[in-house]
Amino acid sequence: MTLDARNEKPTTIVIFGASGDLTARKLMPALFNQHRKRRLPTGTRVVGYARRPYSRAEFQTLMQEAVTSFAGVPIDPAVWYDFSSRLFYARGDLDTPADYASLHTFLADIEGGPANRLYYLATAPEFYPAIVTHLCAAGMSEEKENEAWRRVIIEKPFGHDQSTARELNDIVHRAFRERQVYRIDHYLGKETAQNILFFRFANSIFEPIWNRNYIDHVEITVAESVDVGHRAGYYDQAGVLRDMFQNHLLQLLALVAMEPPVEFEATAVRNEKMKVLSALQLIPLDRVADYTVRAQYEHYRDERGVAPDSQTPTYAALRLQVDNWRWQGVPFYLRSGKALKTKLSEVVIQFRSPPHVLFNRMELNRMRPNVLVLSIQPDEGMRLTFETKVPDSPQATRSVDMEFNYSSSFGEDAIPEAYERLLLDAILGDASLFIRGDEIDRAWGLIDSILAGWASPHAPPLVEYSRGSWGPAESKALLARDGRAWREYVNGKAS
Ligand code: BG6
Repeated sequence: MTLDARNEKPTTIVIFGASGDLTARKLMPALFNQHRKRRLPTGTRVVGYARRPYSRAEFQTLMQEAVTSFAGVPIDPAVWYDFSSRLFYARGDLDTPADYASLHTFLADIEGGPANRLYYLATAPEFYPAIVTHLCAAGMSEEKENEAWRRVIIEKPFGHDQSTARELNDIVHRAFRERQVYRIDHYLGKETAQNILFFRFANSIFEPIWNRNYIDHVEITVAESVDVGHRAGYYDQAGVLRDMFQNHLLQLLALVAMEPPVEFEATAVRNEKMKVLSALQLIPLDRVADYTVRAQYEHYRDERGVAPDSQTPTYAALRLQVDNWRWQGVPFYLRSGKALKTKLSEVVIQFRSPPHVLFNRMELNRMRPNVLVLSIQPDEGMRLTFETKVPDSPQATRSVDMEFNYSSSFGEDAIPEAYERLLLDAILGDASLFIRGDEIDRAWGLIDSILAGWASPHAPPLVEYSRGSWGPAESKALLARDGRAWREYVNGKAS
């Protein structure tokens, strides 16, 4: 792991929104785990910033409770003691310039000399413009030549649509240069999402067949069993396209479809992802009912915080097309929803059927094409399905699996939380797993075009699906129109 030379200076991580859920559940446990693994640069400090009047000791106690609950490991008291000696708390408003001036003084006092700064925006998104603007006005965003760096991590959602994302990008760019900006999509921090690139480009046997000549279609499923719960207020304004597709699903698609980058480095990787997003065809308004499905789980409108006549979809399925040489004619089917049967994220690559059927001609339907399943979660691994002859039969075939499983190859606890990787990368100055401004912009363009179709007379009906199901029948019909079907799941596994 190469450290940015400027990382030899101490680094201060300032978390805006330090009293919130994200800090307690994800950020603090991730930082603690990286500290425990001795990966944080020496002299790293973490400063929580929020409105609540905590003392430093109270904040440390709260964070200890959070880390104990969510770090996923027993807490060694000596390691905690060392970590907590790096924790500080600064009280302040997000929209009061004088509070940023005080924060500036507070940071300078504890730093006692040049220090790098990573600002983490873990607040509600409506505060992002104020925070970056005030940081800039207080002289806290500027990097002086060869001095310490200043970086900002911005949580999703980055904008509500293309125009608000553009406004936000403009505001952010008034305060920070693009190279200082780290837009998070935590899916990119998942080991299994990163492994898509390693699987494709650290092996030589898959890439030659990774194209329209061999692949029939691609399915990306991100299913959740949870409903909207206490996030209904946010969710009812967002819906599944903004919440899951604009970021996580389109990013997974980009990793699956991109060309090999020249090097494994932020600009090269993100250029290739951007080409895929640019090659995704916009769905014409009058075809939106042919290529998309929108649905709501039963009784969604009864959830507290949801409008009684809400039209917000909690499930969507899309048929997308990547319009380039490699993928011409290969549909990408994407689906995601809440309150589904199980929590499961998978990419399914279905290969073409053999061109000529040799065996068991009377029972054609038994022969199944090869399928490669990249399981993102929870059963992390991958599985290649192929046909074999059933022993002691004349010509019968059956599908069998070749499987790789993270837990059996690397151990039960081998997979760290996505935020561990992402926080460390931002400290080290590696933006490969963060989203660039142009990617965000293009992804919103695609989502906006579908939302415009859904708001038009051409919209597909908003249908209902049962809780605990795999979504509405219309989703099956989307693939059936092409003579295809989603992978069936038996006991949580694709069959
Ligand atoms: C978030 C969405 O980005 O991702 C949530 O806002 C969703 O609605 C979550 O539940 C899913 O993340 P994961 O890592 O649990 O698949």
